[in-house]
Amino acid sequence: MARGEVAQALAALETHRRDIGSQRIADLFTADPQRFERFHVKLDDILFDFSKHRLNETTLALLLDLARAADVEGRRRALFAGEPVNTTEHRPAMHMALRNLTGEPMFAAGRDVMPAVLDERRKMEAFAEAVRNGEITSASGERFTDVVNFGIGGSDLGPAMAARALTPFIADHLTLHFVANVDGADFGDTLKRLPLATTLFIICSKTFTTLETMTNAATARAIVAQALGEAAVADQFCAVSTHLDKIAAFGIRSDRVFGFWDWVGGRYSIWSSIGLSLAIGIGAEKFDKFLLGGQDIDAHFTTAPLERNVPVLMALFGVWYRNFWGFATHAVIPYDERMARFPAYLQQLEMESNGKSVDLSGAPVRCATAPVIFGEPGTNCQHAFFQLLHQGTEIVPVDFLIAAQPSGADAKHHQLLFANCLAQSQALMQGRTIEEVVARLRAENLSAEAIEALAPHKVFEGNRPSSTFLYKRLSPRVLGQLIALYEHKVFVQGVIWNINSFDQWGVELGKELAGKLAPIVADPNRSTEECDRSTAGLIAAARKHCKG
Ligand code: F6P
Repeated sequence: MARGEVAQALAALETHRRDIGSQRIADLFTADPQRFERFHVKLDDILFDFSKHRLNETTLALLLDLARAADVEGRRRALFAGEPVNTTEHRPAMHMALRNLTGEPMFAAGRDVMPAVLDERRKMEAFAEAVRNGEITSASGERFTDVVNFGIGGSDLGPAMAARALTPFIADHLTLHFVANVDGADFGDTLKRLPLATTLFIICSKTFTTLETMTNAATARAIVAQALGEAAVADQFCAVSTHLDKIAAFGIRSDRVFGFWDWVGGRYSIWSSIGLSLAIGIGAEKFDKFLLGGQDIDAHFTTAPLERNVPVLMALFGVWYRNFWGFATHAVIPYDERMARFPAYLQQLEMESNGKSVDLSGAPVRCATAPVIFGEPGTNCQHAFFQLLHQGTEIVPVDFLIAAQPSGADAKHHQLLFANCLAQSQALMQGRTIEEVVARLRAENLSAEAIEALAPHKVFEGNRPSSTFLYKRLSPRVLGQLIALYEHKVFVQGVIWNINSFDQWGVELGKELAGKLAPIVADPNRSTEECDRSTAGLIAAARKHCKG
């Protein structure tokens, strides 16, 4: 990649930002009635509206120059060719192979992975179907009614988010549960709702060493062995991992073990056997539709010209705000209750991938990388943090997501939901000037003093940017498409920032220190001498509480 060209593109954008610094989005619509027509892309059942952004044709052209200078197209080829783009772990990132339904060869480090991928998918889906239709039963010979997924991070967030999003497609006779936290309250509270004899436990862990998952799985195993007998473990448990050797020791039958590969990052693993709980819930056919959604976006990402390429545009707008306007956060607001876990899913995807401070060569990055991602479903968050979004000092670009068709039976609810979603992006963009506020207060017959005191509080600065993703309805395919759009957005941003989006060394230090602290916490007589004074003080205080 020509870093000199990148520097030039960045400089041109910096100058341009100063030029358009005072332009208002609302005025851009007045000047160009065709703005919406030109600034949206239709992609199957998803419409991506990017007209409410601080940008014009020149901005777009300059951002695309940046993408070209950073060699997004070349790096995209390397990604899809299965080159070791995860440079610190010397691995490709070939999660796209998992949603390749055609079986056309796809390579990871020079080997066609599709035969193995198709085999594993067939095996996993056959098991999922058999659990779902009662062919595979519990130790007591009954049909499974409940499925518990033990996993954390990518081994939890994907299936948990998708299972919630696709609730209408989950078989009525099945209840899916997701237990992630090592906090015993998580499994403890779930356990109260479980009919143990008809519960299938899935242990999902890429490494099969993760503290939280292993602790929860061991607790569940002991409970099952005690309540149903040791022999029942083989019938009530199954596992998904890349470390098949480690699973045998747990006592899981070899035909209930599902694998994937080290070229699948945890946060990209929903497409693999990690999606087993989801596949049981929605069935193999719908699971394939979900995969198809991912495949649709791979085709779009690799073939659409950059200026109509949705993940490329999403990435560029993020770079625009992060690096040229200094906006440090980004909100994802689904006006879709069932997408409640989508922001949390994206937090891992974006922040674990691009929360980096060194570039590919290990040198400190020269610009800010991933913003803080947060979000909650609308309309709820309108009554929580939207005050800050409208009037706070921090400008937060927003992604709004909304379905055109109602998901529930009552169309009236959906009309109100829809109106609110549009109203928020409109309010963020338009704002309300002091003149408008004063005119409204006068119309309410307030005194001049009262108007003077109140008016500044009612001003909305406006000019706050947002994208809107409008989809027909939240189907498995649309969900697959939405996830893959964000995945490729993250990849493109990683290319522009010249960082490795596929490792996550930043999670290691805390794990290591927790390992050292665990025996000290467990034994009240152990010295805290080697701890820093704050940690030692906290341990001492906790020990006192535990005695008291
Ligand atoms: O701690 C971070 C992490 O390694 C994530 O990247 C991963 O998704 C999660 O832990 C769970 O890891 P595993 O699937 O190996 O249990």
